[in-house]
Amino acid sequence: MTSLEQCEIALDAHAEQQELPTTRGSVERIPRDQKSILAGLDSEYNLFEDSSFANLVHSSLDSGEKFQRWFRYREGFSPELINGAIKSLGIETTSILDPFSGAGSTLVAARQADIPSVGFDVNPIVAIIARAKTHNYSAKDVADIRATLDRFQSANERMDKAPRPGLTILDKIFREDVLDALLTVRHMIDAYPSGNVADFLMAGWLSVLEGVSNVFKEGNGVKYRNRKRTKQGYVTIPWAQVAGFEDDGWKLVKKRLAAQYGMMLDDIETDVVLASPVIREESSVLGIASVPDSSISLAIFSPPYCNNFNYMKIFKVELWMSGLIETYGDIRRIGERALRSHVEMPIDVPDSRTLPSELYELIDCIDLSLLWNNKIPKTIVAYFLDMKMLLEGVYRTLTPGGECHIIVGNSAYGGVIIPTDVMLAKIAVELGFQVDRVAVARHLTTSSQQRRAMEPLVQYLRESIVVLRRPLNV
Ligand SMILES: C[S@@+](CC[C@H](N)C(=O)[O-])C[C@H]1O[C@@H](n2cnc3c(N)ncnc32)[C@H](O)[C@@H]1O
Repeated sequence: MTSLEQCEIALDAHAEQQELPTTRGSVERIPRDQKSILAGLDSEYNLFEDSSFANLVHSSLDSGEKFQRWFRYREGFSPELINGAIKSLGIETTSILDPFSGAGSTLVAARQADIPSVGFDVNPIVAIIARAKTHNYSAKDVADIRATLDRFQSANERMDKAPRPGLTILDKIFREDVLDALLTVRHMIDAYPSGNVADFLMAGWLSVLEGVSNVFKEGNGVKYRNRKRTKQGYVTIPWAQVAGFEDDGWKLVKKRLAAQYGMMLDDIETDVVLASPVIREESSVLGIASVPDSSISLAIFSPPYCNNFNYMKIFKVELWMSGLIETYGDIRRIGERALRSHVEMPIDVPDSRTLPSELYELIDCIDLSLLWNNKIPKTIVAYFLDMKMLLEGVYRTLTPGGECHIIVGNSAYGGVIIPTDVMLAKIAVELGFQVDRVAVARHLTTSSQQRRAMEPLVQYLRESIVVLRRPLNV
C-alpha cells in the first residue's frame, strides 16, 4: 500500500483537523489526511490557471532567442517573464534582484531595459555565462575577440596547453585529440586579464564543451553518448559513429568554436552602454545581507526546486575543464554553498518547528519505506528553512510596494506532495508579505509508477508563479 493510500484510509473520516480530549484531559491533535492539508493550503491563496506562462517558466533550448541560445541551460526561464513583471509592477522598476541568477535570464532582460540589477549564483560556470551576456562591449573588445578567434583557428598540437584536469574519467569523456584542442584554446584564453574579452571567450569555450564530449546532461546527471542499450545489454559504439563527430578532433573543435562565437557576436551590440548587473558568486541566502535595505523594486527568480536536483553534479565536466576546480574537495566545497535542496548536502536541522505546521504534517504522511534515501524528510525541512531565510532578506531589500515573483515547481516524495508554491506563500505571509496571486503555469508529470500512486493528487503537481508584495504602508 502506498503512503498516500495509508494516509487516506486512516484519516478519511477526519477531513478536517479535529481536537479530541485525551485520557489525561489535555487536547491532542488528530493528524489530517494529505488531501485536506493540500486543499486547505490552496484555499488560502488566490490560485488560478494561466497557461500563457507555460512556455515561459522553462527555457526552450532551441528557441533561437538572442543570448538565451548561447548556453544550453535547461533550468533557465524566459526573459519574457521579466518584461511582463516590469510592465505590471505598480511602481517604477528602478532595480532588480535575482538571488538564483543561473545563466542570466533576469539579468539580460534587466540590462536590455537599462535597469540596474544584482544577481547571485554559487556556480561559477553559469556566473561566467551570465557576465558574458550582460557586458557592455566596446568596438575594441570586439576587435580583440575577432583577433583571438583567428588565432584559435590556426592553433595546432605543438602549442602550449592548459594543465590536464584531474577528473578521473576524463579519457571516457573526451577523445584525446579533442581534449588537446580544447586545452590549447583554453591556454590562450587564460592569457587574457579578467574582463569583457576573457568572459566572452570563456563563455563560448564553455558552451561548446558538452557538444564535443562523449556525455550529455540528462535528468540529474550526465550520460555517455557512445553507450547504447541493446537487447544484449549496453554496448560501446566507436567514436566515429557518434553523431556529428568528424574524424579529426582539432577540426571538430575549431568548427564548433567558430559557429558558437559567430552566433554570440551576432547577438551583442557594440558601444551601447546600458546598466550592467552586479553578479556575485556566492550564496544569496547569506550574501543578500550585503544588499541595502529598501533598494530593490522587483525580485524575480526561480530557486532550485525541492526535488533533489544537484546543480553542481551536472556541471562537473565544465567545472573541471575550466580549471575552476582542481580537486574533488573543491567541487564539494562549492556544492556546499548551494541551497539545501538535495540529499548530498550536509543536513543539520534544529528540532524546533519554526515552519508552517502543514509542512510537518505532510512530512509525517510520507511513507518512509518508499523513500530511496532516509535524509529526504530532513532535506525538505532544510530547503524551506533556507528559503525562509532568503525571503526574509528579500523582504528587507524590497522597497515598499515592491514585488517578489517566484517561479517554482512542486514535488512528490513517498506518495506525498510537497506544495512548494503555496508553502512559500505561507512562509512569506508570516514574514510580512502580501500574496498578490499564485498563477499555475503548467502541470508536471511524474514517472508512471509514481503517477498511479499520485492519481488523486496530480492537480497539485504543478509549476507556478507566486507573486508577493511588500506592503506600501510598512
Ligand atoms: C533554477 S536555476 C536558475 C536559472 C535562472 N533563472 C536562469 O534563467 O538561468 C537555480 C540556480 O540557483 C543556483 N543556486 C543554488 N543555490 C544557491 C544559493 N544558495 N545562492 C545562489 N545561487 C544558488 C544554482 O546554481 C542554479 O543556477
